[in-house]
Formats: sequence, C-alpha cells, structure tokens
Amino acid sequence: MLEQLQELHVQALDELSRISEPDELELWRVRYLGRKSGVTQVLRSLATLPLEERRKVGARANEVKSALESRLIEKKRIVEEVHLISALEQKRLDVTLPGRPVSTGRSHPITQTLGEICDIFKSMGFQVFEGPDVEWDYYNFEALNIPRYHPARDMFATLWIDSEMEGRLLRTHTSPMQIRIMEKTRPPIRVIIPGRVYRYEATDATHESMFYQVEGLAVDENITLADLKGTLFEFCRRLLGQERRVRFRCDYFPFVEPGVEVAIDCLACNGGGCRLCGYTGWIEILGAGMVHPDVLRKLDIDPEVHSGFAFGLGVERIPMLRYGIEDIRLFYSNDLRFLKQF
Ligand code: DAH
Repeated sequence: MLEQLQELHVQALDELSRISEPDELELWRVRYLGRKSGVTQVLRSLATLPLEERRKVGARANEVKSALESRLIEKKRIVEEVHLISALEQKRLDVTLPGRPVSTGRSHPITQTLGEICDIFKSMGFQVFEGPDVEWDYYNFEALNIPRYHPARDMFATLWIDSEMEGRLLRTHTSPMQIRIMEKTRPPIRVIIPGRVYRYEATDATHESMFYQVEGLAVDENITLADLKGTLFEFCRRLLGQERRVRFRCDYFPFVEPGVEVAIDCLACNGGGCRLCGYTGWIEILGAGMVHPDVLRKLDIDPEVHSGFAFGLGVERIPMLRYGIEDIRLFYSNDLRFLKQF
C-alpha cells in the first residue's frame, strides 16, 4: 500500500506539471483528491489493516494528501497568473490611439426660432404660456366666433379625435389659447403662446400636417390698431432685419374685427419680385386683428372698457426664408445631415 501511495504521488505530480488550463485543475483535483480518488480510498480502508501497518499507511496517506493539496494551490496561482498575463496581452489597450469624437447634439432650427421669437416678445412685456394640443371644439372654433356650419371651418382641415367624448380635436391653430387665457385672467393681458398645431392635409414642400405657430394676445384699456401695428412692425424688424418693410392689409378672421394680414418685403429679392415671393415682392407671415367684441363679451370682458389685439404667426416660414430652405418636410424627417447645419 505504501508503494501504491508512492506511485499515486508521482503520477499525480507528473500530471499536475503538465496542466496549463484552470478547468483542467478542477478535474485533476477530483481525480486525485476527490471522494473516489486513490488517496481517499486508502484512508477509508485503514480500518481493515493491522494496527502497526495502519499507523504507517495512515501517516503516509495523509502526507501525500496534504502534499498534493499544497501543490494544487501553488499550481493554481501560477496557472491563473499566466492566464491573466496572456489575457492582458491579447486585450491590450493602445492608449496612444486617438479617441472617437463624441458627437454633441444641438437645438433644432425650429426650437432656435421659437426661442428668438419668445425673447423679442418677452422684452416687450409679454408672458409666455403653453396650452394643450388636444382641444375642444368649443375653444378651437365655437368661442372664436366659428360656430358649427360656419364656412370659416373650411379654412381648417380638422383632425378629430375619435373617442367616447364628442367634440375633441387636435388644435388647428394656437388661437384657442386666447380663450383659455381670457377665461382665467382679467386685463391687462399680454401673452404669447408657442405650440404645435395640426391640419388634415396632404404634405408637400410647403405643407405639413403638424407645424408650429406662435399666438399673441394683448387686452387692456385703450388698445388700438396702432398698438397692433407698432408691436408687429417692431417684431418683424427685430426678427428679420431692421431694413425690412412691413405691410398691413385687410383680411378676414372670424375672431377679429378688423382683421389684417401682415407681410414683409421678400428677403431674397428685397421686394423686386422673385420665385420665392411668387413675383409679388411680399411674403405673408402673420394673421392678426383687433379681438372681436363678441369674443370679449362671451368672456365677460366689456368691449366698451377693454379692447385687444391678437396675432398668429407661422414659425417654419421664418427659417425657410432666412436659410433658403425649400421644403418644410426637412424639419421633421430627422435627417442629421440637414439638422447639423443650424
Ligand atoms: N389662427 C389663424 C390661423 O391659424 C391665424 C390668426 C389670425 C391668429 C388672426 C390670430 C389672428 O390671433 O388675430 O390661420
């Protein structure tokens, strides 16, 4: 039995010396130190031996066992170290390689324009508010003097919300916020409302089914058409250049009286006439007017005491004119090659 132990010892060490993978170490441990290993079997059979032999064999078996155990620990350390070194070698980082550039985002051209518009009106004493995109028929039409069957509803190709509750829609303009503001606030009022609006329309180079407007409203004692003209004149020049000419002409909107259409001389041809302005020299950018007395009255504001002006501005037009962008759809198709330019 002593001989058998000796052979086992030699064989085990020999095998151990040839191992280089961590997985093989575990197999080796099971084979030479596990429950079914030779050493364990010898230790188990001790009881059957005569006393004298039992002592010798027992002592030797324990020696072999602990020798193998400590060699295993040693070997394990070496194998792991070698492994680590080769792993580090293979996955080596070349710290001298130039880094990958981090691409930084930027604000969308429409966001930039909205910011500029709001800044100009803020400097003139207007407060900025926002309102819901999903609106009631009442605010979008009814309260703005556009009752059911009024032909002006044709101007707005409306997207209706299909739900249990009748009369909900995606707002077709930001004007409903005039009503919401006047319901909650008493004059003096000076507010602007930027936001998205929606129309059920086929898209093309100049039409989108979703776009932005900025609504404005000023209500106070003694507000006149001159205030409207002065405010919008100043606004147009600050936004589009001090040399701009601004034209006011009559127009019709049910919620204002009188209503006006505001145009600026064409940025491309300075009024001479070109393709951009349809050879008229003028580009319309705003609808506006004096708030209709009926609208005020319905909100318990006495038109004999208070008057107001309102306006609605299309936002996409502005960067299109400034940068010569010919297709409105570019703003909302998320092409980074386009968006990165601003
Ligand atoms: N809401 C109108 C539109 O989308 C624009 C407009 C015209 C707004 C006249 C106004 C206004 O506040 O007074 O076509």
